[in-house]
Amino acid sequence: MVCFGAVVFASSRGKNNLSHGLIIVGLVVSIGGVDRRDNRVMKSNSRPSTEKAKKTDADSAKRGSKVNKAWLHDHINDPYVKLAQREGYRARAAYKLKEIDENLGLIKPGCLVVDLGSTPGAWSQYARRKMSPKGAAAGELNGQIVALDLLPMEQIEGVVFIQGDFRELAVLQLLEQTLTAGGGGQKLDLVMSDMAPNLSGIESADAARISDLVELAVDFSIQHLKTEGALVVKLFHGGAYDPMVKLFKDTFAVVKRFKPKASRPGSSETFLVGLGLKKVVAPPVNS
Ligand SMILES: C[S@@+](CC[C@H](N)C(=O)[O-])C[C@H]1O[C@@H](n2cnc3c(N)ncnc32)[C@H](O)[C@@H]1O
Repeated sequence: MVCFGAVVFASSRGKNNLSHGLIIVGLVVSIGGVDRRDNRVMKSNSRPSTEKAKKTDADSAKRGSKVNKAWLHDHINDPYVKLAQREGYRARAAYKLKEIDENLGLIKPGCLVVDLGSTPGAWSQYARRKMSPKGAAAGELNGQIVALDLLPMEQIEGVVFIQGDFRELAVLQLLEQTLTAGGGGQKLDLVMSDMAPNLSGIESADAARISDLVELAVDFSIQHLKTEGALVVKLFHGGAYDPMVKLFKDTFAVVKRFKPKASRPGSSETFLVGLGLKKVVAPPVNS
């Protein structure tokens, strides 16, 4: 116990206070077998032997490959994957947005739309077809779609794409400049965010990452949506869920929750839609 506590302390302090960290690591080495080369606790009698560790690695690799095979099997047989292939969508995610849109009528010809976390592009493809006079994947487009993602996105005719991290100010500014240039400074009808952070499995860290993206999308919507506009965000059940629902209720006149049929039942993913920005009430002026 002493060793473990000391190692955690040493490694967490080490970055900010090197001399303090070194003293404690040195102390632990002499007590309980810490390799000073990498600050990790090395094997002791209570830890698996190299052979045991190898077996554990092999077992978990086997489990991993079973999980991959099961995922692949489910994916290939998934009706939405097949439908997406038939209908020319890049991802089954298109059907999540489709269900939300068919319920609420969010996307129409003439709309100005921002698609955050757009890659590989299924939501933009769906919006593009809805805004085309003939529902076409190419040709005339009535409205404007600006898509943004950390990763590259293969071009979709008529969709402007920006590659960058939405959390960065320079990327936000580029998005705003693009909207001003293309949309003449008009406010947006729809902001949709399917952005998903890499989840670590550590609940508090994941909740913070999810909240971060949702809060930025809400903030962006407050600045750029028409009063009657809408925001769609992906959210995960967990620590971030209730605070984000509250944020939506504080910001929008109407809030709807969706678990579209295309969203896998085992996934904690869910969608929130905010409709119509609430009027901002100015704080009372002190007399
Ligand atoms: C589930 S995918 C989106 C799928 C997309 N809606 C579609 O229909 O094809 C989530 C995307 O969010 C993007 N993303 C995550 N964090 C982001 C960030 N901070 N800025 C921009 N994109 C981000 C990821 O790169 C990923 O491509």
